[in-house]
Amino acid sequence: MRQAIKAALFLAASLLTALPLPGTALAQASSPDVATGATLYADHCAKCHMANGAGGKMFGSVASADLRAPGLEQTYHNNDNLILRAVLEAKDQDDVPLNKPMHAWKGKLTTTQARDIIAYLHTLRS
Ligand code: HEC
Repeated sequence: MRQAIKAALFLAASLLTALPLPGTALAQASSPDVATGATLYADHCAKCHMANGAGGKMFGSVASADLRAPGLEQTYHNNDNLILRAVLEAKDQDDVPLNKPMHAWKGKLTTTQARDIIAYLHTLRS
């Protein structure tokens, strides 16, 4: 009898953990796509920030930023929304305009595309 109860509990517990939480599927559908981000990065960002994200390319006296983790994440207080603003509006973590030739990508990239790129940037490590 005890064994049967144990077995039933075990089954119930396995079923519960196997069931996706409500909203999980939706969250996955809208979560950023690293592979798309990698392609977008190669197309739009790598020529200035280098293929590995290390930056360091000089434009007059301005060097392109190192976009790799953990440096970029620390600069932007581990806040993807601030990194998003940097990409879309060319504003730094303190809302100060970034130096040229960094563009504001708004209008050229959608928010979804910029989030895909940021997800990819998190995979680049110094
Ligand atoms: C024409 C060259 C160029 C291109 C293309 C470019 N960037 Fe930049 N980016 C720069 C430069 C130069 C800086 C440094 C600006 C500064 O120091 O104020 C910079 C800064 C940044 C920063 C701020 C980093 C920090 O530490 O504050 C982010 C984020 C960034 N770029 C992301 C991107 C992304 C994502 C793309 C592609 C969509 C991109 N950049 C394309 C030149 C470029």
